[in-house]
Amino acid sequence: MMSFTLQRIPAFSSGLFCRCSSKSFQRHCSRISSKKVRVSDALSSEETGANVRIQGWVRSVRPQKDNLFLHLNDGSSLQPLQVVASSHLNTRDLTFGCAVDITGTLEKSPSKRQNVELHAQHIKVVGECNPVDFPFKIKERHSLEYVRQFPHLRCRTNAFSSLLRIRSEATAAIQSFFRDNGYVQIHTPVITSNDCEGAGELFQVEPAGHKNDSDDPNPHFFSVPAYLTVSGQLHLEVMAGAFSAAYTFGPTFRAENSQSRRHLAEFYMVEAEIAFTESLEDLMKVMEDLFKAATEHVLSSCAEDVELFHKYTAPGRRDQVDLMLKRKFNVISYTEAIDILKSSSQNFTFSTEWGCDLQTEHEKFLVKHCGNVPVFVINYPYELKPFYARDNQDQPNHTAAAVDLLVPGVGELCGGSLREERLELLSQRLAQAGLADTYAWYLQLREFGSVPHGGFGMGFERYLLCILGLHNIKDVIPFARFSHSCLL
Ligand code: 4AD
Repeated sequence: MMSFTLQRIPAFSSGLFCRCSSKSFQRHCSRISSKKVRVSDALSSEETGANVRIQGWVRSVRPQKDNLFLHLNDGSSLQPLQVVASSHLNTRDLTFGCAVDITGTLEKSPSKRQNVELHAQHIKVVGECNPVDFPFKIKERHSLEYVRQFPHLRCRTNAFSSLLRIRSEATAAIQSFFRDNGYVQIHTPVITSNDCEGAGELFQVEPAGHKNDSDDPNPHFFSVPAYLTVSGQLHLEVMAGAFSAAYTFGPTFRAENSQSRRHLAEFYMVEAEIAFTESLEDLMKVMEDLFKAATEHVLSSCAEDVELFHKYTAPGRRDQVDLMLKRKFNVISYTEAIDILKSSSQNFTFSTEWGCDLQTEHEKFLVKHCGNVPVFVINYPYELKPFYARDNQDQPNHTAAAVDLLVPGVGELCGGSLREERLELLSQRLAQAGLADTYAWYLQLREFGSVPHGGFGMGFERYLLCILGLHNIKDVIPFARFSHSCLL
């Protein structure tokens, strides 16, 4: 690796001279007198003339006769910092993609494109990058499909680094929403013995090399078969029984053999559980407030990053997002939803008879039908919902107090319900399903200070798809896990 020290930058008015004879001494001096700053801080800096040190990756190199222009990015902002240096500082290893450590002064930029630029005195190439072998090319706009092939490198692209900053801010916004509204965060377990949703989409957990020996009285690592969690809900219900309002936000696993654009084997779910709640309206209000609060925060704190998607990937999405924020979400019953689907002229692939599960095609149709504003569908057929959903005890259509939130571009974003808090009804349902022993502890919650309660789960990746207008869930998670995917 080569590094050069600038003796003089004739093209600059700052008139910087290096008086040191020893290069290493000078490097030492300039480093200790330079404050380390991030690109985002440098770009918003009002102060010029300050000695700074900035480390990052080179996004473009433009050598000219006297000067060298670089664009430097360190992941702190979409906009790179322009670096201007004497052409003497150019070296062969200073290429697109390489990692550099630069010291210099921040100066007012003559260009309208940025306020400040860095006048480099010293450039050190920390990590070389062969631009021929590097999968991303300077000045080329790569498709999301293309960059998806490089999960270990795609965070170096503009689009994916924007996405990850948005994801980080959205995470913080969700945490703040719950904290500000008096919820206690609970780290629900990743390893569990329950299949909360009862859909059997479980990944089993055993030590590596484990052999299922039928003669062994305890063939499992734990005393019972263990799985990766499909939902933190049941553990959260435990906590809502003490804290009134609790939430969890963590990795969730489903062994769905799905290659769809909406499903992952590992995704993040935001789940809330609220005690002393007797109506779905209470739950829907939390879902709508959460969606709107998080989205408003993301739009204001990551404006540039969000604009990248709204401008280039999903034109028109910004207007849709603004509409979602402005309008009250719709509410229809499952029965009304079926009526809407049946009276439409669209030919659906899946059945629209009462009792059928709503499929993505139905969900998307319903959202469009409601003017592209999110819609809550409530009171689903009792038989469609898991054992924990509260029985509405209605006739002739037997329903449970369950709710799904459907949103534009995605379909189902949230699923929730009031929980069956009545011991007798819950015991009967568990007994019918042969699950009374497995859920003895869950039943016991209904014996000791049981209260009406309910909650919901929101798929975090689907939330990002919705607000950014992206189509593939693999594009909104740092490392996507889905059936038959390669794992890093
Ligand atoms: O509707 P689901 O299955 O609800 C539950 O798991 C409840 N126990 C949550 C609760 O009440 N605490 O899942 C909730 C949401 C879905 O609406 C969807 O957005 C997301 O989780 N989701 C997935 N996201 C990505 N990949 C998958 N395979 C997903 N499965 C569900």
